[in-house]
Amino acid sequence: MKKNLLFYLAVLTVWVMMPLSGCGKQEGGKPSGGGVDNETIRTIMQRKSVRAFTDEPIPAAYMEAMLKASMAAPTGSNIQPWYFVVLTDKSKYEHVFENNFNMRIFNSAAAVVVFCADTTVTRPPRDNPDGAPVTRPNGTWRDDLGACTENFLLAAESLGLGAVWTAAYPYSERYASMKRELGLPDPVLPYCAVAVGWPANDEQPKDKWKPDRIHYERW
Ligand SMILES: Cc1cc2nc3c(=O)[nH]c(=O)nc-3n(C[C@H](O)[C@H](O)[C@H](O)COP(=O)(O)O)c2cc1C
Repeated sequence: MKKNLLFYLAVLTVWVMMPLSGCGKQEGGKPSGGGVDNETIRTIMQRKSVRAFTDEPIPAAYMEAMLKASMAAPTGSNIQPWYFVVLTDKSKYEHVFENNFNMRIFNSAAAVVVFCADTTVTRPPRDNPDGAPVTRPNGTWRDDLGACTENFLLAAESLGLGAVWTAAYPYSERYASMKRELGLPDPVLPYCAVAVGWPANDEQPKDKWKPDRIHYERW
């Protein structure tokens, strides 16, 4: 009887400790070990904007891994409106990034990825799934692209690369030349340009934790 009690106590202790220690979580589809101090959270907390890079190129597999992470982002109604233009030919930047104050950053980076979005969605009418598809504005494309861009930045951080998000949309003075020079078809628009490469300096993340921004149940 006493042995049984000890056994149940041991099981209970392991069960209670599991979320704190991270043990017991499965690999593949489920978070790996570490509890609240796991690799994913460490990568998120370590991410910072990097604006100066070495000359070293980015291996193709790394670029693919970052783009895969981007396309794994959540997206309204699973529309996945994103497209990407990967740039490495700096001789074209003068025209692509006309009047863009981030030019120095782009010129330093091994690559600049222009995140683009189809701003419309073509689907059968909601009330008639057999009807002819109609094209309407996609109300969530900017949210989708934001999530997609952040995934790219986090993947870059996890690979030891540095990156910075620079705005394009809604500033027409920035995105018009990107759309024109990169040959984006309508209704595709440039959303942002991310410069990425190997960090030249030892940038550190900013501490943005402000517990007073959090309200529970009511403001
Ligand atoms: C929508 C958006 C637009 C941004 N545009 C620029 C930009 O044009 N140039 C730039 O150097 N950084 C840009 N940034 C990066 C921010 O300046 C940076 O994220 C912010 O200062 C916080 O620093 P951190 O990324 O190191 O945490 C942008 C970030 C976001 C989210």
